[in-house]
Amino acid sequence: MAATELMEKIVSLAKRRGFIYPSAEIYGGFRSTYDYGPLGAAMLRNVKGSWWRETVERRRDVVGIEASILSSPRIWEASGHLKNFTDPLVDCRSCKERWRADHIDGVCPNCGSTDLTEARAFNMMFRTFVGPVEDDASVAYLRPETAQGMFVNFANVLQTSRKKPPFGIAQMGKSFRNEITPGNFVFRTREFEQMEMEFFVPPEEAAKWFQYWYETRLAWYVNHGIAPEMLRLRHHDPDELSHYSAATVDIEFLFPWGWGELEGIANRTDFDLKAHQVASGVKLEYFDPTTNMSYTPFVIEPAAGATRAMMAFLIAAYREDEVGNEARVVLGLHPRIAPVQVAILPLMKKSPLVEVAASIFDDLSEFFLCDYDETQSIGRRYRRQDEIGTPVCVTVDYDSLEDASVTLRDRDSTSQIRVKISDLAPTISSQFESYSPKV
Ligand code: GAP
Repeated sequence: MAATELMEKIVSLAKRRGFIYPSAEIYGGFRSTYDYGPLGAAMLRNVKGSWWRETVERRRDVVGIEASILSSPRIWEASGHLKNFTDPLVDCRSCKERWRADHIDGVCPNCGSTDLTEARAFNMMFRTFVGPVEDDASVAYLRPETAQGMFVNFANVLQTSRKKPPFGIAQMGKSFRNEITPGNFVFRTREFEQMEMEFFVPPEEAAKWFQYWYETRLAWYVNHGIAPEMLRLRHHDPDELSHYSAATVDIEFLFPWGWGELEGIANRTDFDLKAHQVASGVKLEYFDPTTNMSYTPFVIEPAAGATRAMMAFLIAAYREDEVGNEARVVLGLHPRIAPVQVAILPLMKKSPLVEVAASIFDDLSEFFLCDYDETQSIGRRYRRQDEIGTPVCVTVDYDSLEDASVTLRDRDSTSQIRVKISDLAPTISSQFESYSPKV
């Protein structure tokens, strides 16, 4: 399928089925902003939940925080963002459009002119004012990355969590960047969600942990359903490294328009802790009781985009196939990130089956994200669930009233088995645990 056709199909499905809508649509939309509908909100929560579970909850060496989005502008001065967090901006003298110089190869994508201004540095942080007076003293910035929240809380967390390097502090949440050229759906937006972890290590262990984290993070995408051949690692050349980084590797995904970054894993050295120590005057070191020496840990940072990852999961999962000579669209989403995990479908509405189905919904929704649907033919209901990636459907029919069993239908193979209602939860759980992607 052509790249633009695939993207059009995904964008259209996302809107039609309630994953992602253009924001403020009733006002004609608003500059590459998006709202997540019922299914999109559920899926985004699952993506973030899976990241949090693997990166924080299932590890003894990582703790989580939630830092504020608005905070002291001194953070961004010390971190170097006020000076360095810029993109090269050029104006087209013919049509007056603005572009990122490194995105356009010297030719205006709008009118084809090569009459462009010299590139100038454009700071991407959103500025606002805190309090009723709009003067220099009240300027604040919306955070462009969640990472700084971990650095400025390093001493607090060290003290309260009693962790010692190697250990990490993680956070998920919104970040904001005044991108010059947002686009490709939710790939690049001005408001987006990040999932970041700062892993503090003894400096001599930095190289080892750098490799450990990029391998671990790559495996996370594969374990959540992206085929390995749609992912690759790309090491940054020295001249493209961020101002804080000694080494960076990107995990890239094969988007319909080509390879694009999903996540960056960087060795930020001791740059941030040292910068904040100098600027704040507060010691941000670790005292090692075994050597009686203090040192500034190095930081390995896996920095992922939650909204961008969700889009990659949608693209990787999209397929069209045929069932019984009928075309269908399937999202082969991993059960852990599917917005609906189990759909409960009584064969007939306004029948005794409804009560059984409602009670199954009540039982299963304690363990799984469930949907209940009694409208239209069963075939159409299966198609609808396939299209939103629901891994299994539970169908309640008239036999269910006799044998206390239901039909469990698998999305990928469309095969059906009969299962006792009392065995449903463990049967579905074990299917999900042994799930392997078919895309
Ligand atoms: N703390 C390091 C940092 O923020 P980054 O590579 O600039 O590194 C990390 O951002 C991830 O955040 C990216 O790999 C991407 O997934 C996501 N991201 C960055 N800018 C984005 C944008 N404008 N829209 C959507 N996601 C974005």
